[in-house]
Amino acid sequence: MFTSEHAHSLNSVPPRYSDRINHLLSKMHLVEKVGQLSQVMGNNSEELEQDVRQGLVGSVINEVDVNTLAKLQHIATHQSRLGIPLLVGRDVIHGFKTIFPIPLGQAASWDPELVKKAAKIAGKEASFVGINWTFAPMIDISRDPRWGRIAESFGEDPVLSSIMGVAMVEGFQGDNFQNPSGIAACAKHFVGYGASESGRDYCTTNIPENELRNIYFPPFKAAADAGVATFMSSFSDLDGLPASGNKWLMDSILRKEWNYQGFVVSDWESIAQLQIHGLTESPEHSALTAFDAGIDMEMVSTTYRQNLATLLENKQLSEHEIDQSVLRILHLKEKLGLFDIDYPIEDGQSSDARKQAFYANEDLDVAKQLALKSCVLLQNKNRTLPLNSEALNAIGLIGPLADDGYEQLGTWIFDGEEEASIPLKQALENELSRSVTLNYAKGLQNTRTDNIDLVDDAIKVAQSSDVVILCLGEESFLSGEAHCRAELDLPGKQHWLIEQIAATGKPIVLVIMAGRPLTLEPILNMVDSVLYAWHPGTMGGPAIADLILGESSPSGKLPVTFPRKVGQIPIYYNQKHTGKPATEEQCIHMDDVPERSPQTSLGMAATHLDTHFSPLYEFGFGLSYGEFEYTHLVLDKHSYAPGESINVKVTIKNVGRYDAEEVIQLYIRDLVGSVTRPVKELKQFKRVLICAGKEAVIYFKLEQSELAFYNRNMQLEVEAGTFHVWVSGSSKSNLTTEFIVTKP
Ligand code: NOJ
Repeated sequence: MFTSEHAHSLNSVPPRYSDRINHLLSKMHLVEKVGQLSQVMGNNSEELEQDVRQGLVGSVINEVDVNTLAKLQHIATHQSRLGIPLLVGRDVIHGFKTIFPIPLGQAASWDPELVKKAAKIAGKEASFVGINWTFAPMIDISRDPRWGRIAESFGEDPVLSSIMGVAMVEGFQGDNFQNPSGIAACAKHFVGYGASESGRDYCTTNIPENELRNIYFPPFKAAADAGVATFMSSFSDLDGLPASGNKWLMDSILRKEWNYQGFVVSDWESIAQLQIHGLTESPEHSALTAFDAGIDMEMVSTTYRQNLATLLENKQLSEHEIDQSVLRILHLKEKLGLFDIDYPIEDGQSSDARKQAFYANEDLDVAKQLALKSCVLLQNKNRTLPLNSEALNAIGLIGPLADDGYEQLGTWIFDGEEEASIPLKQALENELSRSVTLNYAKGLQNTRTDNIDLVDDAIKVAQSSDVVILCLGEESFLSGEAHCRAELDLPGKQHWLIEQIAATGKPIVLVIMAGRPLTLEPILNMVDSVLYAWHPGTMGGPAIADLILGESSPSGKLPVTFPRKVGQIPIYYNQKHTGKPATEEQCIHMDDVPERSPQTSLGMAATHLDTHFSPLYEFGFGLSYGEFEYTHLVLDKHSYAPGESINVKVTIKNVGRYDAEEVIQLYIRDLVGSVTRPVKELKQFKRVLICAGKEAVIYFKLEQSELAFYNRNMQLEVEAGTFHVWVSGSSKSNLTTEFIVTKP
């Protein structure tokens, strides 16, 4: 055993603040210090103006009117005693005006560069109105598709979530805020929120420390190392301690072990909610618990404002501790350059000029590229896709999501505009030649209705077309915060609609827009192709149309496992092996078991009797119009001394007829560990264009630090022994080899 990486950032330097910040602090009255720790709802009221003038506000949230924000900043900087500018926070989650795919869709692109570009655009657009802080990325590991907030996540994998989270942070913040339109990012929700019991939002979580360290912490550690400006504490209660009052998380882990220098904001009223959780008995107690835990800024509730001074008087906390929080907040304001802006009162003309900067053509192009790369082709029977439009007379387009600019934007689009988005219908009309007729019917009024009045028209459309594109799924309301579901089938009468259309005998291309994995097993045999588009954003229509018509090949890969049935949840690829793993030989379906069989005739394995043990689609899965053959997986050696990197080589040939990008994924398994290890762990991936008929030789260099995990003693170590390695186009593959890491 040897330590590959310091679990504790021992070498990091203690924070040093500028003379300006230190000087400012020395002049602050206590009430102004507490003001800096308070985030309030933004608005255009005189009351808020007065509070800002008196230095009682450090940050405002949810005000996006450019003139109001300019006025508030003007008051803060010109009319308050110390002239401290405001942090202006907003949930810019997957775009401000130009809306990109939901984060889960972005993760499906496996293209961090594009994700970074998208975040940069989102930050730029938001900064035009005066926003300087977003509450993204959300990097909660999400293994439960019932949880509505899985839409906001990057899925189930720690490595993919870390890479995507860092890409977003870099996109928003630019290179250490050198970009003038860079805004501060926020790693949220620290931590474990995705493990809410049964996928019900805000519920209890129970995660053992080893699991926290190996699965839930890594994206947050990566964001901290990438310099994310802020962290947000989770609403949820972790092993009995709500995150906003959890000193172990905020202080022992984040501050001391990771040496995090940014500041921590609570979630919305989550400090006041400590009392509702039953952890504290009064607002004063909540303020003390949260402040002592290490929450620097309180979002919206006012327990700090009401109680910190009294707690100080009573010597329950020290002014030095308050100063540390204030310094962190002032430091961010300085880094963002907020002290160097003059903040004139905005005039209408300049705000109009700013607005024209929304939806720039090159930004819309990035939105289209990201939507295109995020779509995952799940099924393509008889190579139904891509459609050869020249050979078709009429295409039927059916479904409540085919012509709805709003629903395709997805959750968290406070500032997105329906009018700016291009639905599939419009995109197909633009792209199809005049010789092809596009017949359209809505089919159902929305995705969850039980009313079938519109179905007859849809059947007629199908009958008069050569092929049908069905655009179904979940409207945006069905995922996101507090929008959890207990069933994951297509809601309403969509299943029935598919049956009716399938009865016409026409080939069916099913396009699904949704905020989460749905349980698609019951409808797969009725349709030919399935293209999973998530909620693809402003440019969803043109991206999907390009894929359907073969302008581009699908190349998205699932960032999360798709279950066959809700009862399989949680089901994720990096599960443990167990002592009785499920295998094809071992597993029996109850339909195949004779009556009155002896109890032990059933497969004694980790599975259900009423479904197959495998998921419907595994993590990393996604088809392409290309066809990729993986061969010649070789390593430079078989045995590696501690610290030596492992060089992996693999050959991939596109034996199909289409040029296409492939996401090449490298997985490992550590066969024996001091704590049981996952059956597979993603370590690296590359997205590569391979032209039809061509071969690519791909190299990976795996550092031994990537093999490290938190062991039984909660130390990050590589344990000597045998490892398997796979390189493949999904987490399911037989192309494997092995290597050994020797003892020191
Ligand atoms: C509550 C949500 O949990 C969080 O993600 C969001 O950033 C805040 N509200 C602010 O809107």
